Amino acid sequence: MENIQNIISQMTLEEKASLCVGVGPWTTYPIERLGVPRIFVSDGPHGIRRVIDENQIAQKSLPATCFPTASCSASTWNTDLIYRMGEAIAEEAIAYDVDVVLGPGVNIKRSPLGGRNFEYFSEDPYLSGELAASLINGIQSKGVGTSLKHYAVNNQEYQRFSINAEVDERTLREIYLPAFEAAVKKAQPWTVMCAYNKVNGTYCSEHHELLVDILKNEWGFEGLVVSDWGAVHDRVESMKGGLDLEMPGPQERHVKALVQAVRSGDCEEEILDKSVERILKIIFKAQQTDDNDSFDKEAHHDLAREIAAEGIVLLKNDGILPLKTHEQIAVIGRSAKEAYYQGGGSSHINPTQLDIPFNELRERAGDTELLFVEGYPKQDEYKQEMIDEAVSVVKSADVALLYIALPTSKESEGYDRKDLDLTEHQVALIHAVAEVQPNTVVILNSGSAIVMQSWIDEVNAVLQGWMMGQAGGGAIADVLFGKVNPSGKITETFPVELSDTPAYINWPGGAGEVHYGERMYVGYRYYETKQVPVMFPFGYGLSYTAFEYSNPQVPKAFTDKEGLIVQVDVTNTGDVPGKEAVQVYVHDCESALARPPKELKGFAKVELEPGQTKTVSISLDFRSFAYYHPQYHTWVTEDGDFDILFGASSADIRQSARTTMKSTIELPCMLCRESTIKEWLEDPRGAVVFQPMYDEIHSGLEKMFGGDESIGIEVSDMIVDMPLISLLLFQQSALTMPAEDIVDGLLQQAHNMEV
Ligand code: BGC
Repeated sequence: MENIQNIISQMTLEEKASLCVGVGPWTTYPIERLGVPRIFVSDGPHGIRRVIDENQIAQKSLPATCFPTASCSASTWNTDLIYRMGEAIAEEAIAYDVDVVLGPGVNIKRSPLGGRNFEYFSEDPYLSGELAASLINGIQSKGVGTSLKHYAVNNQEYQRFSINAEVDERTLREIYLPAFEAAVKKAQPWTVMCAYNKVNGTYCSEHHELLVDILKNEWGFEGLVVSDWGAVHDRVESMKGGLDLEMPGPQERHVKALVQAVRSGDCEEEILDKSVERILKIIFKAQQTDDNDSFDKEAHHDLAREIAAEGIVLLKNDGILPLKTHEQIAVIGRSAKEAYYQGGGSSHINPTQLDIPFNELRERAGDTELLFVEGYPKQDEYKQEMIDEAVSVVKSADVALLYIALPTSKESEGYDRKDLDLTEHQVALIHAVAEVQPNTVVILNSGSAIVMQSWIDEVNAVLQGWMMGQAGGGAIADVLFGKVNPSGKITETFPVELSDTPAYINWPGGAGEVHYGERMYVGYRYYETKQVPVMFPFGYGLSYTAFEYSNPQVPKAFTDKEGLIVQVDVTNTGDVPGKEAVQVYVHDCESALARPPKELKGFAKVELEPGQTKTVSISLDFRSFAYYHPQYHTWVTEDGDFDILFGASSADIRQSARTTMKSTIELPCMLCRESTIKEWLEDPRGAVVFQPMYDEIHSGLEKMFGGDESIGIEVSDMIVDMPLISLLLFQQSALTMPAEDIVDGLLQQAHNMEV
């Protein structure tokens, strides 16, 4: 590796500033005289969008494998598969001289309306972080960098360039940051991309707390922070805020502004040097990657199919699937001929080849006759004649397969969905077909959850096919005909209706702000707390076989420092081989601050032959039990009981066991003048110094308010949430010292006490 400090010492101020601003849409500034090459970056995240003309931002790209988008790959719950997808993406990047892939995106699916949800993994931060780390490790294992995006709190498309996300510290730490944190700690992405939006009043591109304090200092991020394309408003403020590289370039004025800021002393040169160092490290890292001009298109297509097939989720099945031998199958729906396999925007790939779902069915259908009608128009329009045509065709068939895809006008990068419905025409088509055809299967293609309440009872089976990438057509056919036993599980809750969703009343904000008012209660954390019925819970998905969970093994006691290993046996009780995504949730039986009733803290995908049993082991660590305390500004654990829940989904807990944790953390004393009686009694130091006085106060009040003098109160309940100072002020006349002095004396004792 080049001596980076040596290079920096030879760089002019102009060269340093230039290196911190892209020179083209996808390239960094090369400094030939010092042997500093450029690097080339490309979107991401589920394939390579390497534009043919490198001076263009949005232009046709070179053919690359379009792997399933994140909603689909996440639904596999299979980290090995996602790692392999990463390796394949890296091979394609290398073939196209791409040094850094712009992905993965780990923003949380706060609302199913999010226009880019198809690019994100989940509503759950733990799952998102694990999957992202696998993808990053897969890509980077081949010497290609990644860009973990969009940091942070970028959960909607509405006003995405400017909206101010107002989110409290605990919610930020527990929901919106952990996926980034895990990916950084477990995989060290070469780059992290800051989001467009503001968080609590500051643009992410200038957010020192997010970029420097948390990302670089606290989490130990070693790579460079790059802006989302066009996210920089003030290059000097963003440099001071921790943004190393601005993209895209050229931005001559920004380079000059940096030079000027250093000359005037507005920005210390050391800050610029640090960014330069981070950028150079990545540039030279990229030079170590071996060249290779080609990749195995067929093998990657097959891998894309394998992932798609494992990401498909069987939502409903009355036994009609897998398909048996039939004489005639009616295939209804234009998406059977025009695959809806990816979303619009920066992630749009030019595929190397494309499975046509109908042709894939044809290949596997043997002697069965296949009929086809388009069923619905390309756009969101209503055409009764198309429905009538479909009805006339399905009547005579043995089975109807309805391929329903959301029109692109309903979901894409750049705009959010307005509702969670299929089009009015599509819903009418489902009703009409199901009315005349008793064997109806719906195959859905959408990037995110759909509401189905109005039609689901009328059909026999539903497959959630997502945007499954270029090989999705074959994957659907494999699942329909039973060549693949479905094992995908949804990583986002499917609500009954839009108004049930947690962010509903806060979405998408207005007047430049969006309030994260539902706090940590996102996705299943909300539905479980409020006991709101859902269509399909987080983690849910059916199989052609069945699994039994037994023999949960959880140590009776542990310390937060050691963590623990929990186990459960899983048996395939059906007739066909299958895979099961086993989920482990943690329930805190009692906590000082309210917590969601269960949170995913571990999972494993196991493959089982019929009759086979495997023991699944999951490690749980400090963070599996901790919550973020907004007063201590840190993760805290509390002594007490936890339930370890082994689930087939968030709502289908098959086994559980209780364990007791001993917390080993030492927290500073937070008692102050305003602390309440309860806070004094619950604080380990406060309890020691205050208990005797409390007993005295309590019995005095009992005497005062008991008997004839009763004013109808329960003394303990009345005073428990009163500040001690207020209580004493009530009684000042009976005290020998001013109330303030008494409290200050106790505070001094408590703060000086060792625990
Ligand atoms: C998107 C990023 C993308 C970048 C470059 C932006 O508009 O938000 O996800 O990587 O463009 O195409």
